Amino acid sequence: MDDLEKWRPEFPILSRSVYLISNSLGAMPRKTADSLADYATSWATRGVRAWEDRWWEMAQEVGDRIGGMIGAPPGSVSMHENVTTAQMVVLSTLPVPVGPRAATRRKIVCLEMDFPSLIYLYRAHADLGFELEIVPGEPDYSVAIDRLLAAIDDRTALVALSHVLFRSSYIMDPEPVVRRAHQVGALVVLDAYQSAGIIPLDVSALGVDFAVGGCLKWLCGGPGNSFLYTRPILRSQVRPRYTGWLANRNPFAFDIDALDRRDDAMGMMNGTPAIPAYYAAIPGLEIVQEVGVDRIRAKSKKMTARLLDLVDCHGFTTVASRDPERLAGTVAVQVPDGMAVSRVLKERDFLVDYRPGVGIRISPHFYNTFDEIDAIMAEIQRIVSGKEYAARSPGRSLVT
Ligand SMILES: Cc1ncc(COP(=O)(O)O)c(C=O)c1O
Repeated sequence: MDDLEKWRPEFPILSRSVYLISNSLGAMPRKTADSLADYATSWATRGVRAWEDRWWEMAQEVGDRIGGMIGAPPGSVSMHENVTTAQMVVLSTLPVPVGPRAATRRKIVCLEMDFPSLIYLYRAHADLGFELEIVPGEPDYSVAIDRLLAAIDDRTALVALSHVLFRSSYIMDPEPVVRRAHQVGALVVLDAYQSAGIIPLDVSALGVDFAVGGCLKWLCGGPGNSFLYTRPILRSQVRPRYTGWLANRNPFAFDIDALDRRDDAMGMMNGTPAIPAYYAAIPGLEIVQEVGVDRIRAKSKKMTARLLDLVDCHGFTTVASRDPERLAGTVAVQVPDGMAVSRVLKERDFLVDYRPGVGIRISPHFYNTFDEIDAIMAEIQRIVSGKEYAARSPGRSLVT
């Protein structure tokens, strides 16, 4: 037993299933139920006074906790409902290329391998005069850095890139991208959803202008907890159009004249925050912080290496990089009828997901064991060789 296995009793679902889907939804910590009960108690007993007790500034409290794990200084991380919303805040800081004070920079550069929700959002900005350049992916579901660099020019307003690509778990190197973008005067937003909590991340050292991500996956904090890091020097310069009373220094004056924007991360927020989601996030954040992302990464590398060995051993295939420095937490395994196989796995309490093109995504976290990895790969082999999925109707899986 490695020393991280001692955390297993803290995650109830681990005693009931082989939980290998932390790229999608991290396991719920036992203490999350207590934390949500604290929320209910404060609402029930303190009523509206709970806002003054803790709730009004709670986004800052949770943001600072996340900041401590991603290299963001206190007061630089705001909280949002999801990553698409956080990206909308970023986009709303860009000068628009239409109208009397039209900006000349109108290009948004992103990756074909970015999460589709974000590409829909960038595309929708064509109505404001923005042009989208989507850098194509490679056959192995990575993105060549040279192609990305070539797309960034002096017409570029924003470069949006995923730190870890969600299908292949390929780790992009943000450093040359930030260098090139800043050389031509463009901003960079990093989508760290598939990196925060599973690989070391230091947004200050990388020099990105913005970083977005969430607690749902590797940070074990449940939905509704996405974060937005804004580079401190930018906070006094940017003026998000997507704003609201939370950003106001004096919200209870209910003044409708120009917003007196807070100069901390709360200045990037807008309306009433999702308080229960913050209570849900704290236990997972505490655990990941205590375990430490360096130790998580060290174990993760061993587990993905074991998965790759077993892929070869069983004669399956994978798009996962064989360079451990380029592979984050997930190994996607390709087998015939992968979607049907993943459904059988779920019925047998092996929790994983399936993505077209890359196959069955297996995502061990620090709380998983090497035995579980061996067990799922043996189970896949059994299902594939027995064609146990063959008679099933296609059905629809809602797990994302
Ligand atoms: C890299 C990445 N970005 C974004 C998202 C989700 O975005 P949202 O929080 O808007 O649903 C995911 C979800 O799987 C993801 O993997």
